[in-house]
Parts: sequence; structure tokens; C-alpha cells
Amino acid sequence: MDFSEHWEKVYATKPVTQVSWFQEHDRLSLDLIQQEAVPTSASIIDVGGGASTLVDDLLELGYSHLTVLDVSGSALKVAQTRIGPSAASVTWLEANILEAQLPAYGYEVWHDLAAFHFLMDSAEKQAYVRKVCESLKPRGLFIIATFAEDGPIQCSELPVTRYNASSLHAEFGEYFHLVSSARSVHYTPAGNTQNFIYCLFRRKDP
Ligand SMILES: C[S@@+](CC[C@H](N)C(=O)[O-])C[C@H]1O[C@@H](n2cnc3c(N)ncnc32)[C@H](O)[C@@H]1O
Repeated sequence: MDFSEHWEKVYATKPVTQVSWFQEHDRLSLDLIQQEAVPTSASIIDVGGGASTLVDDLLELGYSHLTVLDVSGSALKVAQTRIGPSAASVTWLEANILEAQLPAYGYEVWHDLAAFHFLMDSAEKQAYVRKVCESLKPRGLFIIATFAEDGPIQCSELPVTRYNASSLHAEFGEYFHLVSSARSVHYTPAGNTQNFIYCLFRRKDP
């Protein structure tokens, strides 16, 4: 499917503070990054980061090697405008993650909140796993959150795959240790609840 056309339409329809996934702060991801004592010199990529405020909060904490990748250029523009001059220190990549050119072993942390779960067929999922493996350093951290098995069956009119910690680990398990997992309830701006599963994986030594 043409991910770009779909997501540009989504971001053209609603302000980013009204989309169902909006959070003022991605607390759980920030807590995981701090709990793992990721140094501020670490290279961190937020895949499907859209207009998320995670990058704002990481800049505030002193992280200086940040990349945000999203298939929607408009979503990235919203984040850049909100951040202002400091946005120049972030690498912004407008790309489909399945086709993106990323530096080999370029990142200490790969973060994905609610992007991977849009991949429905096994070829796409395998392509994503290959990207993580090509781009994440050995022993790197992989933080991923998807709709939980009792979460919504779709988002933005797209079907999603729902996971629990073990089914998510099964997608990546050959290459990653599961460090921890946690269920989380997200409250949407419209007042609905969505159940998520967060997993923290560490890449095995090659
Ligand atoms: C549900 S939103 C979550 C956005 C962000 N992670 C957050 O929590 O605010 C999903 C995001 O993934 C992006 N996305 C979906 N499929 C993608 C793909 N194949 N490659 C890159 N980005 C993608 C969308 O444009 C959208 O910004």
C-alpha cells in the first residue's frame, strides 16, 4: 500500500493534538530510556515518530544524536515547527521504514510506538526486522509498543496486528532478548481507552 498518501491524508484531517495517539509526553518510553541509563551521547531513532513529543523531551534531557523517521513529511514539519531552532540538531527522515536507507549499526536505541503494528503481512514484518538488525548496534536497545491483544483492531482506518509480549518477541526473538514488558492504557483525546503492550528488547551479540 502507499503508506505516504494514507498518512498525509490523516495528518491533513486533524490537528496533531486531536489524533487518537496524541500524548503530551511519552512517559513510558522516557522512563525506559532513563531506567536503562542510555547516555546522552547515544544515537536514538524514533521510527514512525510522526509529530510525537518524545524528541522534544529527549532534547530537553540533553540527548544530542536524535533521528525521527516518518512516512509523513507533514507530521515531521509539525514537530520541527514546535521545537524551533533546536530542530536543526535532529536528523529528520521522511521515508517508509521498509525502504529507508539507514546507517549500518548506526543506532544504540530504536524506538517505535504504534508504527510496526500496521504491518500485516509476513514479508513486510520480515523487512522491518531486517532493518532493525542492519541498523541497531550489537547490545542496542529496541523499545517497541503496539496495540495489545485486547486493544483496538484498527487505527486511522487501517487494520493492525495486535500482540502480547511473547508474540511480539516471536517476531524478533532470534535476534533479541526480552528485557521487560508492560501493559499500558492510553487515553485518547476523544476520551476512549486503548490497551498497549510495551516491550524492551536488547539485541544479542552477533
Ligand atoms: C499511530 S501514529 C504514532 C506516531 C508516534 N509514534 C506517536 O506516538 O505519536 C503512526 C505513525 O507511523 C507512521 N508510519 C506508518 N507506517 C509507516 C512506515 N511504513 N514507515 C514510516 N512511518 C510510518 C505514520 O505516518 C504515523 O506518524
